[in-house]
Amino acid sequence: MIDGHTRVCGVIGNPVEHTMSPAIHNALADKLSHNLVYVPFHVETGEVAAAVKGAYALNVLGMNVTVPHKKEVMEGIVEIDALAEKIGAVNTLVRTEGGFKGYNTDMPGLYRAMCSENIRMEGEDVILLGAGGAARAVAFLCAEKNVAKVYMLNRSVEKVRMIAQEVREKTGKECIRPMALSDYPDLPDKKYLVIQATSVGLFPDEDRAVIEDEAFYKKIHTGFDLIYRPSNTKFMKLVKARGGKAYHGLKMLLYQGIIAYELWNNETVPEDLAGEVYEILKEKMGIKDEG
Ligand code: ATR
Repeated sequence: MIDGHTRVCGVIGNPVEHTMSPAIHNALADKLSHNLVYVPFHVETGEVAAAVKGAYALNVLGMNVTVPHKKEVMEGIVEIDALAEKIGAVNTLVRTEGGFKGYNTDMPGLYRAMCSENIRMEGEDVILLGAGGAARAVAFLCAEKNVAKVYMLNRSVEKVRMIAQEVREKTGKECIRPMALSDYPDLPDKKYLVIQATSVGLFPDEDRAVIEDEAFYKKIHTGFDLIYRPSNTKFMKLVKARGGKAYHGLKMLLYQGIIAYELWNNETVPEDLAGEVYEILKEKMGIKDEG
């Protein structure tokens, strides 16, 4: 029941109408008996700082920020968490004295999703596909988690070189090996964890993978696609066809939400509750079989 004590959280984006975040947060509030509602806010580019300031004045408890506002929102906050600053993107706002503080829960969310599937990053050799906003963040996560080597492949190799340099400057780690996408045959012969962070294969472009040559997929023991729409991407199908394990990005979405919820409410969401909310998300997405 909404009453005079109800706290408001929400997500700002554009478009925001297809967001899954209300399903995550309203389910958490319901199961934890918190008097909290979570709503979408459609905000135009150029209005983000004003929206954030207004939300603070309205005593909004916390906000998520999605595309295309994860950079612009930095203009509207009073403080930024160290990881979010390195990554250069903010997806979560937490109330603090005088304004919101910005965090990035996407990468801790990816990490927690991988841990929940028993996928290790520490000390591993990883192939990272892409060099856009998502891949850039994954590159920082890899450095932070002491991945041994990250072979980072992208269509435009110049973008990877810039990210590798930034990671080196900001973390002191020299783990990124920039490569052109087409140079995948040069990868040392072994089995890798591969993180798919390009937009190729995203709905409605479902019939494509960023690399389609089956020979590449022989090198993959685990493939993690950040895409969750569709839930069985072409990349995942190719990984599985060559005997690897494959995962979509829905658990990353779940855990980035859970970490934000934990920050706003100052409490830890237990794993069994995370599992219950994941089932709700899967049902909303029409995902039945994870195989
Ligand atoms: P996001 O925020 O989801 O990371 P982005 O910043 O637009 O999105 O990045 C998209 C990524 O997908 C980039 O790595 C892009 O490669 P380029 O940097 O060379 O553009 C990659 N990508 C998109 N379409 C592609 C295609 N047809 N073939 C190969 N890579 C593609």
